[in-house]
Amino acid sequence: VEETLVLVKPDGVARNLTGEILRRIEAKGYQLVDIKFVEASRELLAAHYAEHEGKPFYEPLVEFMESGPIVAIRVAGNGVIEGFRSLAGATNPTSAAPGTIRGDLGRDWGLKVQQNLVHGSDSVESAQRELSLWF
Ligand code: GTP
Ligand code: MG
Repeated sequence: VEETLVLVKPDGVARNLTGEILRRIEAKGYQLVDIKFVEASRELLAAHYAEHEGKPFYEPLVEFMESGPIVAIRVAGNGVIEGFRSLAGATNPTSAAPGTIRGDLGRDWGLKVQQNLVHGSDSVESAQRELSLWF
């Protein structure tokens, strides 16, 4: 069965939204396989976000991800990679559709697009790579 890496980012943990996010994942029928709190090191974040290195938002993104605890979750289910991204909604909470995690719970943070509550792997290859980094 397919697996993906979900992260509840520091803004989601700080705003006490972890339970609500887990509820939505479970309500969809996905299985929580493993879960833990992580205070991510710069090394872990550099590996996780390697594809974004050099982009203008890279440094603020890594600093934000270092700013507090993250909840890392291994989630399993049919089509869960695409399915979780559809639960999460568009990257920018301002344009994310109602009914999605980012659309319902994300705040309009102006330029701080990185504060979008969750991460979900975007392909089978990324999911395997990211799961082996975080677990
Ligand atoms: P993830 O599930 O977190 O990977 O989101 P995504 O796949 O929708 O976005 P992407 O992988 O392109 O970018 C990773 C993260 O970088 C996003 O979730 C945002 O937190 C942040 N990010 C992406 N684009 C921008 C941007 O244009 N500005 C800023 N400030 N942050 C961005
Ligand atoms: Mg991504």
